[in-house]
Amino acid sequence: MDPSSTGTMQRIQNEKRQLLFLCIAQVTVGHVRYSIPEEMATGSLVGNIIQDLGLDIKRLKSGKARIFTEDGSEYVGLNLDKGTLIVNKRIDREERCGLVSPCSLHFQIILDNPMELHRIDVEILDINDNAPFFAKREMSFEISELAVKGARFSLDSARDPDVGLNTLQTYKLSPTDHFKLNMLSRPDGTKYAEMVLQTLLDRENQEEHKLTLTAYDGGDPPKSGSVRINIIVMDANDNAPVFSQSLYRVTVPENASKGTVILKVSATDADKGTNGELVYSFSQNSDVTSSMFNIDSHTGEITVGGELNYEKVKHYEIDVDATDKGGLRDTSKVLIEVTDVNDNAPVISIISLSNPIPEDSAPDTVIAMLNIKDLDSDKNGQVKCFISPDLPFKIKSSSTNFYSLVSDDVLDRETTPEYNITIRAIDEGSPPYSTNKTINLRISDVNDHAPMFPQPFLNAFITENNSPGMSVLSVKATDKDSGNNARISYFLEDSQLSGMSASAYFSVNAESGEILAVRSFDYEQTKEFNIRVKAQDGGSPPLSSNVTVKILIQDQNDNPPQVLYPVQTGGSLVAEMVPRSADVGYLVTKVVAVDVDSGQNAWLSYKLQKATDRALFEVGLQNGEIRTIRQVTDKDAVKQRLTVIVEDNGQPSRSATVIVNVAVADSFPEVLSEFTDFTQDKEYNDNLTFYLVLALAVVSFLFITCLVVIISVRIYRWRRERLFYKSSGNLPVIPYYPPLYADVGGTGTLKQAFSYEVYGTADSRRKHHVMTCRGMREQYKIHSERKKFLGFIPAKAVPQIALT
Ligand SMILES: *[C@@H]1O[C@H](CO)[C@@H](O)[C@H](O)[C@H]1NC(C)=O
Ligand SMILES: *[C@@H]1O[C@H](CO)[C@@H](O)[C@H](O)[C@H]1NC(C)=O
Repeated sequence: MDPSSTGTMQRIQNEKRQLLFLCIAQVTVGHVRYSIPEEMATGSLVGNIIQDLGLDIKRLKSGKARIFTEDGSEYVGLNLDKGTLIVNKRIDREERCGLVSPCSLHFQIILDNPMELHRIDVEILDINDNAPFFAKREMSFEISELAVKGARFSLDSARDPDVGLNTLQTYKLSPTDHFKLNMLSRPDGTKYAEMVLQTLLDRENQEEHKLTLTAYDGGDPPKSGSVRINIIVMDANDNAPVFSQSLYRVTVPENASKGTVILKVSATDADKGTNGELVYSFSQNSDVTSSMFNIDSHTGEITVGGELNYEKVKHYEIDVDATDKGGLRDTSKVLIEVTDVNDNAPVISIISLSNPIPEDSAPDTVIAMLNIKDLDSDKNGQVKCFISPDLPFKIKSSSTNFYSLVSDDVLDRETTPEYNITIRAIDEGSPPYSTNKTINLRISDVNDHAPMFPQPFLNAFITENNSPGMSVLSVKATDKDSGNNARISYFLEDSQLSGMSASAYFSVNAESGEILAVRSFDYEQTKEFNIRVKAQDGGSPPLSSNVTVKILIQDQNDNPPQVLYPVQTGGSLVAEMVPRSADVGYLVTKVVAVDVDSGQNAWLSYKLQKATDRALFEVGLQNGEIRTIRQVTDKDAVKQRLTVIVEDNGQPSRSATVIVNVAVADSFPEVLSEFTDFTQDKEYNDNLTFYLVLALAVVSFLFITCLVVIISVRIYRWRRERLFYKSSGNLPVIPYYPPLYADVGGTGTLKQAFSYEVYGTADSRRKHHVMTCRGMREQYKIHSERKKFLGFIPAKAVPQIALT
């Protein structure tokens, strides 16, 4: 057989196959083999059976050549006219045989007449009509980033229905930066591939890798099929958190309230999920002061958690941790500087204080030492200190923070007994804080004021004949000082009053200042006293002042009038003569009376009480003159007897009566004859005459003696005054001279100059007095009534008749 007679298509295949095919055709007689590639178009030539079986067209036709297949498939048809086998319908090797190789069609060509059987084998040759393909469109892997180098990941195989070289031959993976492909064959010869990790994965770097696995067959040209490989890198906690700063610095004012956010720390963790979830906290080794702050474990916000106080802690150092759920941690340091805020007021403390201070303290006397502190710093802690400028004090700065409060003026307790000194300390913060401290400073008393009487002179009145112990007057002095310095005692200053110590007349209650009369006074003896009362305070040394009290004795009607003329001798020995020729209004005589009282009490009136003939005489009411009120007649009796009553004007009034004998006659014999009746009692009249003469002599003597005494006293006193002015030494005791009724100088006044200065020992009742005389004068007035009287006696004494 000529191998060249086989189908042209066969030759396209490689030589080996052809040889093998030829060999079979030679061995099998009547047994023809053809090989055709699959997928030939319908009508394509498979083989020429005329040549290959040695038959001709006629035989074919006569023999009714036909094809017989056991399975009835009709892939190949017989063209009787040409004697060729042709492709009847598309032959898909993969469909027909799958992976079985070689793949052949077996059929018989049957000829009748004579019957001939020819076995034909048509081998279907594979052509590369299938590309390799993968069952899935893509493959997914989740690989932990911790996967070690060399880790293998088997890949799904691709399939290629072709056989031989046309089937899957090789794989390719791209890119290959992390993985390489490892080709393996199973014992059955099938090939598969696996990925081997070559470079470590890092999720943080690349979370997803997309690879393409391509399968190639061995066709010419080769066909390929590819699949995507998605690799998701699974996170592992391979990254520790990292703080954004290794050291945080922050300043916070000390008055930041609780909860104030002062800083937010942040750390990052490249890991994902819980591995990247961070928890912030203060490190265990942070000091206890970290309780001042709180940290939000999620946000990393640091807030104030306590009361910050710059004055106590100026800065805090806290370690902050950020920890991920995997336990990895980073630590950062937070430095918190607390800044000063003016939150402290100055504090004033009094180190020493002199209270009270005496009012006589000199200016610049230190009253208090002060210490003023402010806990704040810088300006907030700089303090100024002052007091009200209108106080007599000032603040002096002795050294830093130390001040002294000193007096700046003269103090006077009587004007201001106490001061409220408010010390104000203010710092220079903004806004400033200030503190006030008030010192209540008392000024203690010094005995710088003497007791004071409201007036230097006082008058008091006391009625004579007072009972001893009677209160005359109360004197009252005041003292501006206080306490003992104002406790006043009253003393009677000793002096000579009418030749006796003042204490003999008055006493003064030391406590109350009440002046008491020690004895009963007689106006007729003394009309006034001048005493001095001293008021003395209890200070040391004591201060005193005095008041002069003029005590005026007031008159009482305690003396009846005294009739001086006509002199009453008990009998009617004296008579006034009235000549019968006397006219109406003839002055018979004048009744002279005196009353030692004064004023109204000495105002005398005269009345006719009884008369022999009331129609003949009258008495002058005021002057006591007895006058005739009608012409005397011869019928009028010689002997007339008048009773005159003298009354003073006191309340009640006191009176005296006097009998006036009047003889109405022209001559003595007539009188005598008439008046013999008067002297009926001879013995009585003799006695009376004797007494009368004696009385006259005594009165005359007394009068002269008085004159002598008065004149000598005047001379003595005059010499005495002169003596005093010459020598100021102590003089002997002056006797007491009672005031006298005498008109010596003819001026109506009697001048007496007595003044006594008394130096007494403590017990005024038992004082020994030494008196000196000073040129002070006291005047005594004499009543005008008495003046008249005294002037009257010598003039009218003439008509007086002494009867024997
Ligand atoms: C001083 O203060 C006290 C107490 O506040 C008060 O009773 C007194 O009257 C004040 N004195 C003066 C002089 O202001
Ligand atoms: C009495 O007081 C006056 C001033 O009031 C003074 O001049 C006089 O010396 C004082 N006399 C005595 C004895 O203290």
